Amino acid sequence: MILAIESSCDDTCAAVVTADGLILSNVVASQGIHDEYGGVVPEIAARQHLEAIDLTVKDALSKAHKSLDQISAIAVTQGPGLIGSLVVGLQYAKALALASGIPLIPVDHLDGHIFAPTLQPTALEAPYLALIASGGHTFIEQVVADYSSATLGRTIDDAAGEAIDKGSRLLGLPYPGGPELEKLARTGDHKAFDFPIAEKVTGINFSFSGLKTALLYKQRELGEGQAAERRADLAASYQDAVVRSLLLRVKRAVKQTGISRVTIGGGVAANGYLRERLAQLPLEQVVVPEFALCTDNAAMVAAAARFRKPVDGELLAGLLPYAAGSRRK
Ligand code: KG4
Ligand code: ZN
Repeated sequence: MILAIESSCDDTCAAVVTADGLILSNVVASQGIHDEYGGVVPEIAARQHLEAIDLTVKDALSKAHKSLDQISAIAVTQGPGLIGSLVVGLQYAKALALASGIPLIPVDHLDGHIFAPTLQPTALEAPYLALIASGGHTFIEQVVADYSSATLGRTIDDAAGEAIDKGSRLLGLPYPGGPELEKLARTGDHKAFDFPIAEKVTGINFSFSGLKTALLYKQRELGEGQAAERRADLAASYQDAVVRSLLLRVKRAVKQTGISRVTIGGGVAANGYLRERLAQLPLEQVVVPEFALCTDNAAMVAAAARFRKPVDGELLAGLLPYAAGSRRK
């Protein structure tokens, strides 16, 4: 029985998950407060975590009908993320582990996204490829039979979610842009404009920085009136370019590895158009976890912890968070 804690960005999360991947509770306390600033304010995020963490953990235990003495491991996100936010979750988890004697398993946030689909009910089994696309990261990971993994390719500039948020802002949509862009795109023609997908970027690496510039130039070319009138077409074509760019690399990864079992994660995986287009690829199996497991949550941290070892008791007090320096962008 794993109690997991995740606080790398602006959501305070706690979950209780069994060793065989059944989610008993998965609580996300969203801070909301950052939207009015158009992005996450690190100082505010850290303070909000401090306010919410104890209640969130207790809530997760209570919803799972478990008490601390029934927990056999505490899993916590060690990094990457905002340092102030990470410190709150990590120190809380360390204190809890030291006081209770329950082993602590530090987890890389990105491993959380990669291993989330191994939880029930999808219960995905290795080997598989994971496309992870969020506001801060975009990469394809190969998970092999023993559940170790390697990154096949990553973005060389912007993350896919970042491209979506920047494009949405150009289209006058509120932050975070993803869901709004998806809604607007539904009423537009995705073939109206041909935006670039950096096909020449070699291998399985991604590039999104040229995309927002292409949108900006297209808006200028159309002029204010036309650009406003064709907003839905611009949104649909822009979203289509992001999705085509992602799926081109998935196809390359499948070809390179011979692994045809694919899953997705990260906030962008919530995109219905991406899910639809992915399902149309000729793959052996496509596993799309439910929305709540794609965006940041603590159940995914527990999922990854199942394949990791607890930290040596003597090293526990000195365990530090890391902001970046993880294997992936
Ligand atoms: O994983 P996530 O919740 O947070 C991190 O960045 O770690 O991902 C957030 C990103 C944002 O860029 C947001 O615009 C994007 O995911 N996103 C979406 C959708 N929902 C969220 N992008 C496209 N379509 C969506 N429905
Ligand atoms: Zn994330």
